[in-house]
Amino acid sequence: MTDNLQFITQPGGSLNGNVRVPGDKSISHRSIMLGSLADGITEVSGFLNGDDCLATLNAFRTMGVEIEELAEGELKIHGVGLHGLKAPIGELDMGNSGTSMRLMSGLMAGQDFAVTLTGDASLSKRPMRRVTVPLKAMGASIETTEGGTPPINIAADNKLQGIHYDLPVASAQVKSCVLLAGLYAEGQTSVTEPAPTRDHTERMLRGFGYDVTTDANRMSLQGGGSLKGINIDVPADISSAAFYMVGASIAENSDVVLEHVGMNPTRTGVIDILRLMGANIEVMNEREIGGEPVADIRIQSAQLKGINIPEELVPLAIDEFPVIFVAAACAEGKTVLTGAEELRVKESDRIQVMADGLVACGIDAQATPDGIIIQGGQLTGGEVHSHHDHRISMSFVMAGLRATGPITINDCANVNTSFPNFVKIANTAGIHVTSNET
Ligand code: S3P
Repeated sequence: MTDNLQFITQPGGSLNGNVRVPGDKSISHRSIMLGSLADGITEVSGFLNGDDCLATLNAFRTMGVEIEELAEGELKIHGVGLHGLKAPIGELDMGNSGTSMRLMSGLMAGQDFAVTLTGDASLSKRPMRRVTVPLKAMGASIETTEGGTPPINIAADNKLQGIHYDLPVASAQVKSCVLLAGLYAEGQTSVTEPAPTRDHTERMLRGFGYDVTTDANRMSLQGGGSLKGINIDVPADISSAAFYMVGASIAENSDVVLEHVGMNPTRTGVIDILRLMGANIEVMNEREIGGEPVADIRIQSAQLKGINIPEELVPLAIDEFPVIFVAAACAEGKTVLTGAEELRVKESDRIQVMADGLVACGIDAQATPDGIIIQGGQLTGGEVHSHHDHRISMSFVMAGLRATGPITINDCANVNTSFPNFVKIANTAGIHVTSNET
């Protein structure tokens, strides 16, 4: 294995056929967490075998949960109940995964043993006070570094009390952390969110038979209940599908169908934004599977136009902006994003890193404190750096479809966190990309 996995795109290509992208990352994480803490068996199909979700899976195995892999993406979890975990030997390594660290903080605050959560170089720079502040308010003894970053040390035997917490940022990870700690708290725990964020935690808790109330922007639950094992069918991840939505929109003569994509309304902002830009997207075969809406999505090439992205769509498309910026680079006119400062604290500073990469490929892109201004133009070949951020790497692969020369993308190993077999699936769909390992 090389230290710098590179993806190299060649100009041209169009996307055709049916594509099934890997399972939803958010739902896969939660299926392991709730399945492990349920009474009885939970069977999961379509699980995302990416490094992030495997960090969550390994953490629960370390704490004594038996998780069998019956086939690729098919798991049988032998739940131990909310109070059945065993103290891990050593630290729990969350790898690159912010979702694992923030949701696990809430769950671990409720255990009768102490835990230390660590992460890789990127995760070790990300803000964690957003979870330690509410958990402390619930009575947890929990510490980060002085800078508010990992590792997170959580003491044993916290006597958690339910609180009401007004989320200062629209973050599903923080909301979920507080609600999951609330399972272990005395009385009621509730949160209000400043804007709708993904609600997979609430939906899945209900699926496991736990009562969660949603009243407008306020979610609440009572501590002290239990979870009952269920079967979970994980849909394809709309955040991974988004690369193909943009790729098929910008590449001439494209016509693809993305199969079995999760269409949770708190995740579909990317479709709304691309449609505002003039994309040709058809949502077909809408159905509901295991409490989550699912559909097939057909995308055909279209001439996109620049827009001012409505701020209310930002939390609903929070992970899709890197590839939306590529759409903007290929659009006629100017695209302006505001109200998206959260993008600066993702796996990389996605505003700066995308602006730098687009400029390196001949596009006029200007980072602003809370967004970006992109003037549509002609992408050229170039060399870009993903800063170990999976979504930056995959975005520039899509940019390659419209570039006049090859794009070399550095540091792509983290694509495995969310999209295993990315190059193979991309090639099958018609994208000219290779890696320096093949
Ligand atoms: C996630 C929530 C989002 C998202 C992340 C997954 C989740 O983070 O960016 O990839 O599964 O809850 P924030 O809640 O920090 O916005």
